[in-house]
Amino acid sequence: MRYTKYIVTLGLLFLSLKSVSQTQKLTNFTPGEIWKDNEGNHINAHGGGVLYSNGTYYWFGEHKGSTNDARVGVTCYSSKDLYNWKNEGVALPVSKDPNSEITSGSVIERPKVIYNKKTKKYVMWFHLELKGQGYKAARTAVATSDKPIGPYVFVRSYRPNVGNWPKGFNEEWKKNVPGEDTLKWWTPKWREAVKGGLFVRRDFARGQMARDMQLFVDDDGKGYHIHSSEDNLTLHVSELTDDYLDFTSNYITIAPAGHNEAPALFKQNGVYYLITSGCTGWDPNAARSFKATSMWGPWESLGNPCIGKDADITFDSQSTYILPVAGKKDAFIFMADRWRPKNPIDGRYIWLPIKLENGKPVLEWKDKWTLNDF
Ligand code: GAL
Repeated sequence: MRYTKYIVTLGLLFLSLKSVSQTQKLTNFTPGEIWKDNEGNHINAHGGGVLYSNGTYYWFGEHKGSTNDARVGVTCYSSKDLYNWKNEGVALPVSKDPNSEITSGSVIERPKVIYNKKTKKYVMWFHLELKGQGYKAARTAVATSDKPIGPYVFVRSYRPNVGNWPKGFNEEWKKNVPGEDTLKWWTPKWREAVKGGLFVRRDFARGQMARDMQLFVDDDGKGYHIHSSEDNLTLHVSELTDDYLDFTSNYITIAPAGHNEAPALFKQNGVYYLITSGCTGWDPNAARSFKATSMWGPWESLGNPCIGKDADITFDSQSTYILPVAGKKDAFIFMADRWRPKNPIDGRYIWLPIKLENGKPVLEWKDKWTLNDF
């Protein structure tokens, strides 16, 4: 009896300490550490992006468990200050219907949400791989909601730009690519052909592959979808329709055969900056950066934006989004994932302030930082 009382008292003490630690306000970013939500759990929003709406930030990301495939769906967290995040639950749940394209066990990656002022809808796009097909499907997918936190309703998934050539595509190559069927992968001739549009042509009738992706809304309200295409060899920038629910036929290719993934971009003083990674799966590699004065290019390569220790592996991370801090001029946060493929739920978040130096974005490691560091 005496012991029972003792155990109950200890239990109560533990619970009250836990709730104190949960309500403690965070006042800084600690890249690479465990980031707890309002319930004391490590935030589960990988490959994410952030939407700012009416004074609140909404962070959407991939829910991960002990495997990478989607068993839960796209999660949402909200915050007023970017340090403290409230779990808003599942914004887009996977489907229990085995015939659904977003059935449990499919792969749902890099969800991003934008708001459409005309339709007043929140529009989510993400990279979808069909269950049991590895990364073969290479589709982009769209879902909508009336509220930022969801629930989002799945609309459809597809390979975009069926029957459309990118701007400026070589007229001759529309009819025939020299050596099309005989070129061996990774040979210099093959690389030249990819640069010229070999794979655009290959996928012309079926639609272009769409894997790692990003959304961007320009100052004039135009929406863009940026994705790794052509077996991840080339990035495509496509214009979205006015309701953001589909692709218009306008698109360009960036850095053909350059092997860019994980595109993230921001616009500052009329210049667009793009940060990407190379293609090494879950392993980190050196980031790249580009700039342009129009979304339609030309995109100039600026090299690796990272400096200092581990700059060659993007501080053990891969870009996912660039977040403009609301109400703070020229303040952009580079958001990246430190993947943990053996235990995906343990993936960490690497957020760092972007500095612009001599017209180039620069990223430097920080153990701890605040919004005052801009
Ligand atoms: C990465 C990509 C991730 C995921 C992974 C699968 O390169 O950025 O989003 O698709 O490959 O191996």
